[in-house]
Amino acid sequence: MRSVFCVLSYSRTIKLRLSAHVEHGRLPRLHGLDDRHALRCFCTESSEPYYITTPIFYVNASPHIGHVYSAVTADCLHRYKLLKGCNSTFATGTDEHGLKIQQAAGNAGKEPLSFCTEVSERFRHVFQRCNISFTDYIRTTEPRHRQAVEHFWTVLQSKGFLYKGTYEGWYSTPDESFLTPDQVTDSTDSEGRPIKVSTESGHKVEWMKEDNYMFRLSVFRPELLRWLRSNPKAIQPVKFHNSVLQWLGDDIPDLSVSRQRSRLQWGIPVPGDPEQTVYVWLDALVNYLTVVGYPQPRSQLWSAAHHVVGKDILKFHAVYWPAFLMAAGLPPPRAVYVHSHWTVEGKKMSKSLGNVIDPLDAAEKFGVDGLRYFLLRQGVPDTDCDYYEDKVVKMCNSELADALGGLLNRCTAPSINPKQEYPRFGEAEFAGRAVSEDYRMMEAVAELPVLVEQHFENLHIYKALEAISACVRLTNGFVQRHAPWKLDRSDPGELKWLESILHVSFECLRVYGILLQPVVPGLAHQILSRLGVGPEERSWKFSAMRERPDRGRAGGRALGPDSGVLFGRLERRATKQKTPRKTS
Ligand code: MSP
Repeated sequence: MRSVFCVLSYSRTIKLRLSAHVEHGRLPRLHGLDDRHALRCFCTESSEPYYITTPIFYVNASPHIGHVYSAVTADCLHRYKLLKGCNSTFATGTDEHGLKIQQAAGNAGKEPLSFCTEVSERFRHVFQRCNISFTDYIRTTEPRHRQAVEHFWTVLQSKGFLYKGTYEGWYSTPDESFLTPDQVTDSTDSEGRPIKVSTESGHKVEWMKEDNYMFRLSVFRPELLRWLRSNPKAIQPVKFHNSVLQWLGDDIPDLSVSRQRSRLQWGIPVPGDPEQTVYVWLDALVNYLTVVGYPQPRSQLWSAAHHVVGKDILKFHAVYWPAFLMAAGLPPPRAVYVHSHWTVEGKKMSKSLGNVIDPLDAAEKFGVDGLRYFLLRQGVPDTDCDYYEDKVVKMCNSELADALGGLLNRCTAPSINPKQEYPRFGEAEFAGRAVSEDYRMMEAVAELPVLVEQHFENLHIYKALEAISACVRLTNGFVQRHAPWKLDRSDPGELKWLESILHVSFECLRVYGILLQPVVPGLAHQILSRLGVGPEERSWKFSAMRERPDRGRAGGRALGPDSGVLFGRLERRATKQKTPRKTS
């Protein structure tokens, strides 16, 4: 709160100075306050813990761009929190137990564990390729996880929240979910035979009747409602928060939390009852605790838990999981960030339609940062998003290759910057020739870090990117307006004006480089390295525009080496990204 207030008053100063300039024809300082103050304002640095997770992925299918979207979203938040100085832990991994996996391994003619290992490694490889900087990769077949689940189960049991009963009702194996009669509808299978399907997922359901363990979910309804009402940001975006409140408007039935061992062998046996296997969703959800070392107390980290999940698994994360935690005497997650799904050219991604997008192919075509940028720029949490190759190409070309890459290229070109320096800002020269649009552009860039921060905090990554992209356009306009390449370097007055233009443009680029690090780490690194910004100056607190980045140095600071085109233009009907080439 304090930091936001500081930043706001800081940008207000710019506004005041801007109006002073406009009204009285005087020069505003680029910043109303000195660097030390700016630094203090942005400095929310602390080693505050932060814990972010993706869902753990079923190993019955190969990774696709929808999975990568969950992972890139969480990765972006993790990287952002690290830049803010938080002590962030980021977990992802694979969900390997349950009937669905048992059947998939059987169909593949493989022993379940080696089947799981194979697919789990595929997920790990895809995430590493996509620059997902997880700090822990959890597999539910690991011994540490089994210990956590067994302990969690015994706690629920010792507190009286489990009882033996008979479950009779619908079960969907693809969703590993129990359904009430009103969540089921009539349909037909591929051969026209009548079947029942889940209204929500469309997956086939079967009637089952089994003796197993039940969890007293029904008693947690009031506590769940209290939690959600007193934490309006617990589930984001708000439309999903409201859906959960609506579900809890009615009574909720107790939940079956085990399956008979005779039907499901591939799972963790119920402690003390080898005839039963722990329900795969209870098993899977506990992964979030396993990562923080449960049952060892690391409460600080647990109370900072944030889950990124797709809309299809909202009920498990916003009802079952908090209820399990409450029953075990642990706090519910701090926030559940929900996102919608990706379709491909307007259709649901499915193996039978043959339209599943392989993230490795996409990363090959568009570059890892091209793919990450597209997913996060185009992906909105509230509604489903459509993946279209032409759209990826257009967006990457216009925003990364032309706007951002073009700006960097123009301003660092040896023809207008032969000394390859971060030039000094000439206050008087700038004041003499700058126009009000220039100050408006600078004001927008000065306000950008706070805006981006707010959008990241609300998981509106696309809005943060929209705002950055708008500023990049303004900076390009500024450069275009003053055409520094036309200025006469041999005239000392012109030279100082040219250097001031470059200085302001570099400052903007430096800000964009810092703010873009969570989204496109490779490109951001390239921008910052080209500008000669060292690793120690890349954290969030340096995202304020500075008037004198060269303060304390003898001359203008040196630019870094030219590593070629920032983002090579992509071809329509995207073939490979062109190999970057040297510009000089
Ligand atoms: N194993 C469970 C999660 C357990 S978490 C304790 C699961 N796995 S999943 O592999 O089916 O899905 C993992 C994530 O990928 C979910 O958040 C899901 O919403 C997301 N996606 C699956 N298909 C997707 C799209 N087409 N688009 C975006 N995300 C998608 O559920």
